Amino acid sequence: MAAAPSNALPAGVTAAMVSAGDSLFNAPRSCNGCHGKGGVDGRNGPNLTTGKYEHVDGSYASIVHVITVGIPKDSIKHAEHRFPMRPQGGHDYSDEQIANLAAYVWTLGHHG
Ligand code: HEC
Repeated sequence: MAAAPSNALPAGVTAAMVSAGDSLFNAPRSCNGCHGKGGVDGRNGPNLTTGKYEHVDGSYASIVHVITVGIPKDSIKHAEHRFPMRPQGGHDYSDEQIANLAAYVWTLGHHG
């Protein structure tokens, strides 16, 4: 069964990248600390599995960008999210790791 075109991985993204991004996102003290395991039920960050976005347009490039620059406090849209997202989620990720994280996050919101 072929996935709908909109759910095919973006150009340049591989399943290995998604898997590596999963490990990074769900590692202790990483993105999941705010967004929750698997991007669900986070206390300080939005659910990333709804397919609806407020800071990005849902494209892979836009997700790479927001992970790189973060979200300053004055750009937070929902007051229950009390802590800003620091650039790279507060880590010193390589470009490759950011690409992997974005690949994983992209799949969370684009279900096959
Ligand atoms: C300190 C908490 C925190 C951490 C850690 C964090 N985020 Fe966030 N993230 C946020 C907040 C807050 C927002 C914006 C929520 C709002 O506007 O209400 C956000 C937004 C986002 C968005 C945009 C969602 C949209 O609706 O457009 C993405 C994508 C994202 N984060 C991915 C990540 C990734 C990947 C990591 C790990 C590298 C990460 N975040 C780490 C708090 C965090």
